[in-house]
Amino acid sequence: MARSSLLDRLPVTPPVLMVRLAIAAVVAQIGIAVTGSVVRVTGSGLGCPTWPQCNPGSLIPVAHPELLPLHQWVEFGNRLLAVVVVLVSGACLLAAIAARPRRKRLIWLAAAMPLGVVAQAVIGGITVLAGLAWWSVMPHFLASIVLVWLAVELVAEARNGGPTTPVVPRAVRALVVVSTVVLVALLAAGTLVTAAGPHAGDSATPRLDIPVPALAQLHADLLFGYLGLVVGLGFALWATDAPARVRRRYWWLVGVVLAQGALGGIQYGLGVPEVLVSFHVLGAALVTAAAAAVWTSTRSPIRGTAPIHPATAPAPATPAPGPGHAPADAEPTTADAPADGSAVHAQS
Ligand code: HEM
Repeated sequence: MARSSLLDRLPVTPPVLMVRLAIAAVVAQIGIAVTGSVVRVTGSGLGCPTWPQCNPGSLIPVAHPELLPLHQWVEFGNRLLAVVVVLVSGACLLAAIAARPRRKRLIWLAAAMPLGVVAQAVIGGITVLAGLAWWSVMPHFLASIVLVWLAVELVAEARNGGPTTPVVPRAVRALVVVSTVVLVALLAAGTLVTAAGPHAGDSATPRLDIPVPALAQLHADLLFGYLGLVVGLGFALWATDAPARVRRRYWWLVGVVLAQGALGGIQYGLGVPEVLVSFHVLGAALVTAAAAAVWTSTRSPIRGTAPIHPATAPAPATPAPGPGHAPADAEPTTADAPADGSAVHAQS
């Protein structure tokens, strides 16, 4: 009771603020995945030997005879970004709770951000206790990727501002689902290559005992499978005259997948130099974000509900209705949408 009245006293979140916080969450989640990989490939995990201070008596790195400045600043930068992730995640949740009308899906997606931080802290702790064993590093990375996806969903939910309806036929949506399943396998196979390769923890960390070339082959085969599905999706989008927004996002996906595939081939050919590994992690996060953006674009707000664009949307001129006036739950619904979505071309 006391808790709910405290939350009810929060000022109503302007829709544009919710969108901006969600975009910040996407950037922060991608950023922490990349800086985490930089810590790993540069072996900087102990650059700050104490917590929360970096060196005993100092929050920031200070010259130390046994620590390389590079290791200190890389680990310190990762910690700083972790603080940003915590702040942005908490702000997303509070803003979603204070958004009106109250929307369960918005709140759940926003809650996934701080819950993800807690889950990552637990997995990270297990990783340290397990001596950076590959089977603990894998879920640590994959959880980051899931959070990137959910953050993109949060942006879409914040932008849509209410119930949505499919804007592409059922068969196209099925193709998007199948390609996402293959993408998950592709990402998981990538972490297996890492687990068997030179950058899985420090030199003493036991590796996954499968030859790297075999795993790299599996990884590349899955990429070809994924590419085939992406090409098929393109044909399906044009054949069904999908909305321009879906097709624009599709081209972004094609661009990042091709760039990531080329980068993967180059890094493999060059013997996986550290710097390219971190760019490959960035690429994996961008492919995930682009795939999630295509996924979310296959639905649009139902006519009559206004989508939110950060660049143009003003804060509401009149205060949104308070609790008790708003529907308790405006979950997106397809109940009144055509089953194949073909007749609906609402754009956001
Ligand atoms: C869209 C295409 C691709 C995606 C999404 C992708 C994704 C990934 C992911 C998620 C990892 C694990 C990163 C980590 O655990 O830190 C990885 C590692 C790796 N990938 Fe890819 N990859 C793609 C294409 C390729 C291609 C075409 C090759 C060439 C064979 C390749 C070679 C590698 C190698 C060698 C590693 C291990 C790097 C290391 O030792 O840490 N990737 N990839």
